Amino acid sequence: MSTVPPTSSEKQIRQSEMPPAGSLIMSGMRTTAQLHIGNYHGALKQWLELQKDYKGFYGAMNWHAMTSRYKEPHDVMNFVREIVAEWLAWGLDPDQNIIFVQSEVPEHVELCMFFLMMTPMSWLERVPTWKDAEEDAKASDTHNLGRFMYPVLQAADIAIYRGTHVPIGQDQIPHLELSREIIRRFNFLYGGNLPEPKPIFSQTPTLVGSDGRKMSKSYSNAFALTQEPDEITKTLRAMPTDPARVKRTDPGEPTKCPVYSFHKLYSNAEDLTWVEAGCRSAGIGCGDCKKKLGDNINSEMMGPREAKRKLLVDGDKLDMIIADGCARARKEAKIQIDQVRSWTGFKPNHDW
Ligand code: TRP
Ligand code: SF4
Repeated sequence: MSTVPPTSSEKQIRQSEMPPAGSLIMSGMRTTAQLHIGNYHGALKQWLELQKDYKGFYGAMNWHAMTSRYKEPHDVMNFVREIVAEWLAWGLDPDQNIIFVQSEVPEHVELCMFFLMMTPMSWLERVPTWKDAEEDAKASDTHNLGRFMYPVLQAADIAIYRGTHVPIGQDQIPHLELSREIIRRFNFLYGGNLPEPKPIFSQTPTLVGSDGRKMSKSYSNAFALTQEPDEITKTLRAMPTDPARVKRTDPGEPTKCPVYSFHKLYSNAEDLTWVEAGCRSAGIGCGDCKKKLGDNINSEMMGPREAKRKLLVDGDKLDMIIADGCARARKEAKIQIDQVRSWTGFKPNHDW
């Protein structure tokens, strides 16, 4: 029995109930852009914790990326390599897990087809990412069937590997709810036994971006997950601070400052005390405070930055890992699609 206290992210997972032994973790990210630190704190960090105890399937979801970026398929494919390299650089283990590319496993699409037949349109119309974004979708030329059925494909992603637990950010709750409903209906209609997946929540609240708004690629206010020290400095320089600190001599309140919220993620207890005391007494300037944060972010990013660079420069190793992961994923997905075909009477070809 280990007596070492759990790290903060382990605690986060334990708070939301540890999955039982033998659970199968399934998750993924859309390959629309470079990852930002919100993707790390909201998802990747949890994957790294979970891989210590569970087998996981982690997909580079390029079909999901196409729901908004169908005009740029080449970009979507370039981000596949970039994002997988990022996962590996931060320590996602390709032996313990199956790391794959969604479009390389056509069984996702085939299972999705079954799901599409039995999913009422009204279920999809209710999903907030559709309902609340329809005007945006029209304006951005993505008021498309692909975007409408996004959650159905997500249900298939999970079910094709019999995923039991899905680590997701809070924004994905409605999608996972819908996955459960679709899978339940499928099992009811065809006598299947696909597991209804349970969420594992990230406890990290949605991060604020460098402009104080929600961190999002579409606002260009996100910190890339690996970046050069001078870029970190530049992003920090643009970050707002407690508006009450107009002059260097004005005391401030760290809890009203986005810089402090990043300190909480990247700085140790000693540095946090230094920020809190120094800010409230005007003992430190915002420049000093940002400099310290920049140093701490940089020291965390340094190792993965180098590892990622190597993977992308020496592309063969990366390509082999991806090819191997896709082959392993496909093998499992084939077993499941044959089951689906036998439940539904859509026999696999070799049964003719
Ligand atoms: N929709 C998820 C996101 O935007 C990505 C995703 C696609 C996913 N398929 C999935 C996540 C299956 C978990 C399980 O982050
Ligand atoms: Fe924010 Fe730090 Fe300035 Fe305080 S000292 S207002 S925490 S940047």
